[in-house]
Amino acid sequence: SRVIRLAVIPGDGIGPEVVAEALKVLDAVAPGADVTFEKTPFELGAARFLATGDVLTDDDLASIASHDAILLGAVGGVPGDPRLKDANIERGLLLKLRFALDHYVNLRPTTIFPGVTSPLANPGEVDFVVVREGTEGPYVGNGGAIRVGTPHEIANEVSVNTAFGVERVVRFAFDLANSRPRKKLTLVHKNNVLVFSGNLWMRTVNAVATEYPDVAVDYLHVDAATIFFVTNPAKFDIIVTDNLFGDILTDLAGAISGGIGLASSGNINPTGAFPSMFEPVHGSAPDIAGQQIADPTAAILSVALLLDQQGLPEAATRIRTAVTGDLAGRTAASGSRTTAEVGDAIVTLLSSELVSEETPS
Ligand code: NAD
Ligand code: IPM
Ligand code: MN
Repeated sequence: SRVIRLAVIPGDGIGPEVVAEALKVLDAVAPGADVTFEKTPFELGAARFLATGDVLTDDDLASIASHDAILLGAVGGVPGDPRLKDANIERGLLLKLRFALDHYVNLRPTTIFPGVTSPLANPGEVDFVVVREGTEGPYVGNGGAIRVGTPHEIANEVSVNTAFGVERVVRFAFDLANSRPRKKLTLVHKNNVLVFSGNLWMRTVNAVATEYPDVAVDYLHVDAATIFFVTNPAKFDIIVTDNLFGDILTDLAGAISGGIGLASSGNINPTGAFPSMFEPVHGSAPDIAGQQIADPTAAILSVALLLDQQGLPEAATRIRTAVTGDLAGRTAASGSRTTAEVGDAIVTLLSSELVSEETPS
């Protein structure tokens, strides 16, 4: 059977709690897909920094990069923890991995699963994917501050957008839109104000659109997009957007889908030059860490994205079916299940899927 080498970074807070459940589910589907996951744990994050002073060493990075794929829980301590001020775990670890491994597509799907209560009264049939650019924009660290701490301080954070970087993520988004029934792509930006980058994004989308005559293209300013996320999220199919807008929109997307604990993501390098990395959209949730109350569904659905990317779509579908079953059966009472109980319930549903396949009807 095929061996897939998986780097596992449980991280901080609820990261290890949700990763444990994601791995349970992965191990439950692997035999049916005739694959074996060979896992290497990496102890990285705020805890490692506080213990050793390391955020991500060159050796860690090289070793992680030698794997076939990466599963990450969440990293980052309690926001504002003074001991972490100089570490910047998010930049030094998470963004460093995304940049070094050229994860230029940050894929963030949103569906409202049957039976799940959205905070929206009438959300309709919600099934969209945010294709968030992952290696550019205001995230690149092109900035600086002078006269810090004085009344004359100036702090700059430059959004970097390259023709190369925008075109490759836009092409990915068009391919994805073209593969879906509705074939619709919405560019989200703020080109009424951010004119230089907005212009590049708009021109790129319009140019690539000529190669995809079947894909219907429209445009929304990001502020207006947040209106439609709440009033009519069913209108979206594929959204392509820059790194920061995509970050903000996908927490909102998680909330409307029934909770951030359901939102999965993949940081993809579509060329295969580097391993892709899968992680829930949420963070380390220090407010609920250590209590076994985090929802592991986002991490489990991130494993489904990992299986898709590894060319194992049947195994991915099995996970989504089990998750769908678990979500449909959730009641007010089952809301009090522990993180591990949710993982166990999904594993149980996976095995009953096999039984029902084997049972002649
Ligand atoms: P967060 O996503 O950790 O938490 C926001 C809120 O959502 C909290 O109330 C939390 O309890 C809740 N929540 C998150 N995940 C949940 C789950 N699975 N089940 C139930 N509730 C859940 O965002 P934050 O508080 O802004 O950030 C906390 C730390 O995580 C910070 O250090 C931040 O930088 C970091 N962070 C890391 C990642 C990552 O590693 N990918 C992503 C986002 C934030
Ligand atoms: C996310 C997170 C990260 C981001 C942070 C922790 C760097 O919020 O994955 O959505 O902004 O991309
Ligand atoms: Mn985020």
